[in-house]
Amino acid sequence: MKIKNICCLGAGYVGGPTMSVIALKCPEIKVTVVDLNESRIAAWNDENLDNLPVYEPRLAEVVGEARGRNLFFSTDVDNAIDAADMIFIAVNTPTKTYGEGKGMAADLKFVELCARQIARIAKNDKIIVEKSTLPVRTAETLQTILDSTGNGVKFEVLSNPEFLAEGTAIEDLFNADRVLIGGQQTPEGKEAIQSLVDIYAHWLKPEQILTTNVWSSELSKLTANSFLAQRISSINALSALCEVTEANVDEVANAIGTDSRIGPKFLKASVGFGGSCFQKDILNLVYLCRFFNLPEVADYWEQVIILNDYQKYRFAKKIISSLFNTVSDKKITFLGWAFKKDTNDTRESAAIYVAEHLIEDGAQIHVYDPKVPEAKIKADMRYLWELKGFTEQKIEAKLNQIYVYSDPKEALDQAHAVAVLTEWDEFKTYDWENIYIKMYKPAFVFDGRNILDAEKLTNIGFRVKGIGKG
Ligand code: NAD
Ligand code: UDX
Repeated sequence: MKIKNICCLGAGYVGGPTMSVIALKCPEIKVTVVDLNESRIAAWNDENLDNLPVYEPRLAEVVGEARGRNLFFSTDVDNAIDAADMIFIAVNTPTKTYGEGKGMAADLKFVELCARQIARIAKNDKIIVEKSTLPVRTAETLQTILDSTGNGVKFEVLSNPEFLAEGTAIEDLFNADRVLIGGQQTPEGKEAIQSLVDIYAHWLKPEQILTTNVWSSELSKLTANSFLAQRISSINALSALCEVTEANVDEVANAIGTDSRIGPKFLKASVGFGGSCFQKDILNLVYLCRFFNLPEVADYWEQVIILNDYQKYRFAKKIISSLFNTVSDKKITFLGWAFKKDTNDTRESAAIYVAEHLIEDGAQIHVYDPKVPEAKIKADMRYLWELKGFTEQKIEAKLNQIYVYSDPKEALDQAHAVAVLTEWDEFKTYDWENIYIKMYKPAFVFDGRNILDAEKLTNIGFRVKGIGKG
């Protein structure tokens, strides 16, 4: 079946960039991205491409070329479903915050709503593509819901998990290590798989497109994220040992990464991994393992999260102990709030948890991030404290301990300490001599990303503490 009309449910960090690239590379296909969130769709349609809701290098360029030609953003979900031959589901699947599986399982209510809406609207056969990250065997649930109307419309469910990383999304989509397509091994299933292969074949080589059965595809996504996160927790665990033995974690990472069986990527010690995926997907895997009565497997993967929480806590504790065991009323400047550079996304950012620990100890947190506005930073903290059940009065008092700047110089002026939470390139180019002059002495730098030149800063007079450096 040759696809002429695609609809994507969910215009977020995945739906927006992936559909923009499909539209760019397949000009003969009409691509409509829909969302229930009106302001998000308005931002995708904003004439000024600087106002797109997702910040990603080169995204504005891609949207600028395809939008209005064969790429459309809309809130008219029903019409887009009706017109489409192929529907991608790219809605959020966060960790459940209530009921059965609270704090562990993926909340599939948004996905289920999509399936029910498609079942209600569809009048002709459609291919449904799981783009969201889902627990293994979700395709079975979707198929049951889709078939429940009994109106004769046939649905073929494919799994096509997304492997892009934020900050490099466009590059990752243009030149994917692989795309993965899972489907039923029936003639109809194979035909549906081929329709999706044909789309990616517009710009990827055949060897970059892997096809599997639907369950392997679903499980591969959770597995890939768990393996990636496991590498970070492994090197972060070793960073703690480096700090007490005078080994240097960057040197250790480099030494082991040259072993071709280990490889050099994803071995950068840090203040802890963040982002919307790693924690959520590992928790989901742990939950699935417990559900299938595999407690040893569950415990094994859960340790990746436990270590990550420890790493964030350890960083905050080091700031407090270095500042003579109290940060009460001290100005601690956070350089960076996003969970990594080149994105405006802050979900599960280590900065949130480090700030929480320091605020608990009475610190005044002064934040500068080139892409994250004040409202987002305060909303992140508010959300955390609301989940903890804090009263409104307590939340307001704690929010008053946070100051956000659009000028890094102001954020750094008269600070007791600087903490680097995100590895934005611009932090390396700052005039650190001038910053030193204007800070309280002794002036501390806690480099949670090991991006600054520690020797140079030490020569200026700073007391520098990196991750995994003695
Ligand atoms: P997101 O929160 O940025 O976007 C999801 C969007 O879906 C939201 O704008 C929301 O309003 C919309 N939505 C929810 N229910 C809807 C409905 N019924 N109809 C229409 N729109 C609806 O989330 P995201 O980061 O784009 O992630 C989406 C999925 O992709 C998740 O399952 C995630 O695990 C997975 N994923 C994310 C990344 C990433 O880097 N962010 C990478 C790979 C996979
Ligand atoms: C991740 C996966 O990489 C991607 O394939 C999947 O589709 C979505 O989840 P993302 O979360 O966007 O992507 O970014 P990623 O580059 O994986 O970084 C995640 C976190 O790990 C960030 O906080 C980053 O700073 C941290 N990290 C990454 C490290 O601390 N050390 C590293 O060596 C690599």
